[in-house]
Amino acid sequence: MQAEWLFLVKMMIEKIKKIATQNKEHIIEVRRAIHANPELSFEEYETCELVSKFLTDAGIKHEKGIVKTGIVAIIEGNNPSSKTIALRADLDALPIQETTDLSFKSKNEGKMHACGHDVHTSSLLGTALILHELRNEFEGTVKLIFQPGEEIIPGGAKLMIEEGVLQNPAPINIIGQHVYPELEAGKVGFKPGMYMASADELHVKIIGKGGHAALPHKTIDPLLIASHIIISLQQLISRRVSPYSPSVLSFGSIHGGGSTNIIPNEVNLKGTFRAFNEEWREEAHDLMINMAESIAEGMGGKCEFEVRKGYPFLVNDDELTKMSKNAAIEFLGAENVIDLDLRMTAEDFAYYSQVIPACFYRLGTSDFSKAPTGGLHTSNFIVDEKALETGMGLMAYLALVDLKN
Ligand code: NI
Repeated sequence: MQAEWLFLVKMMIEKIKKIATQNKEHIIEVRRAIHANPELSFEEYETCELVSKFLTDAGIKHEKGIVKTGIVAIIEGNNPSSKTIALRADLDALPIQETTDLSFKSKNEGKMHACGHDVHTSSLLGTALILHELRNEFEGTVKLIFQPGEEIIPGGAKLMIEEGVLQNPAPINIIGQHVYPELEAGKVGFKPGMYMASADELHVKIIGKGGHAALPHKTIDPLLIASHIIISLQQLISRRVSPYSPSVLSFGSIHGGGSTNIIPNEVNLKGTFRAFNEEWREEAHDLMINMAESIAEGMGGKCEFEVRKGYPFLVNDDELTKMSKNAAIEFLGAENVIDLDLRMTAEDFAYYSQVIPACFYRLGTSDFSKAPTGGLHTSNFIVDEKALETGMGLMAYLALVDLKN
């Protein structure tokens, strides 16, 4: 029985790899077309059309126009109502001017696929081709979610969920991938449990009373108040949360606008707060607001503290992620599968992970034999397209293993 099972697994892996190899050139072309025509969050109209046309040509049924530019495709195997799982890709690009000299570089001024969403989308289209071709060889339904607006608040994932993307049919879990330039193409990484942080923007206005810097007693110095607030908030974050719960507070902008001899009327701070615990996240917002307001008031000024809530933290379901990692080892070999650490960056896939069991894994995209290229969100980020074959094949295999279990 065991031998027979292993034989079947091997056969299935070979079939997937064969279809992936057959479609590799086509998917690379699709990826290049998307890369050359990047569109910003919630404006992915042409990308949406391209995805829709691809699915139509392949004979895969889908619905477009969900949250304007989102698409949901359905691939039914035998006994389609037995189980549904979801796979997700994101469509949007970033406001960055591309500086690579690739033949298919961005032709849209100031816009670039610098976070690999072109890879996620084209790779998932490749996965769709594989699953569609193998539809008589599995039981259940695969829902493919192409979502807009990952890069900006409130996040396309949140809006797609509100539009009912996790209903009719309701997937019991969801898998997504993200490019990872720290890892060589052909390799992937997994992390069960907490994986990525929640991220909130902090916009703090400190209002004092400006005047001549030589006469401080006639002013209420908002710079001094801001300094106290920055230091106190750091202490608050380091003392109030358990050291076992990672948390970060960083201010990246302080703006007063006075001069050597001018105390300004107000100072504006911009920062980010990140955490891995929703209860602590809420508590920290209140604590920071209270602390900042009290300090400003105690020093005779005023503080307006706005928290713009971003994505929640991303948790990978233990069981689904371990199963996916084992499947990845079967598909790629143990030498090509690594364990990942926590990351303090954020991702709107987190919204799905708060609703159903989720697995978000990383797809290596670098060619370390060549000169290093830029990282994610940089103008010279370059992907080794070998990653596409890995990504589309592996995701198809993960879907089949998930449906079978
Ligand atoms: Ni991204």
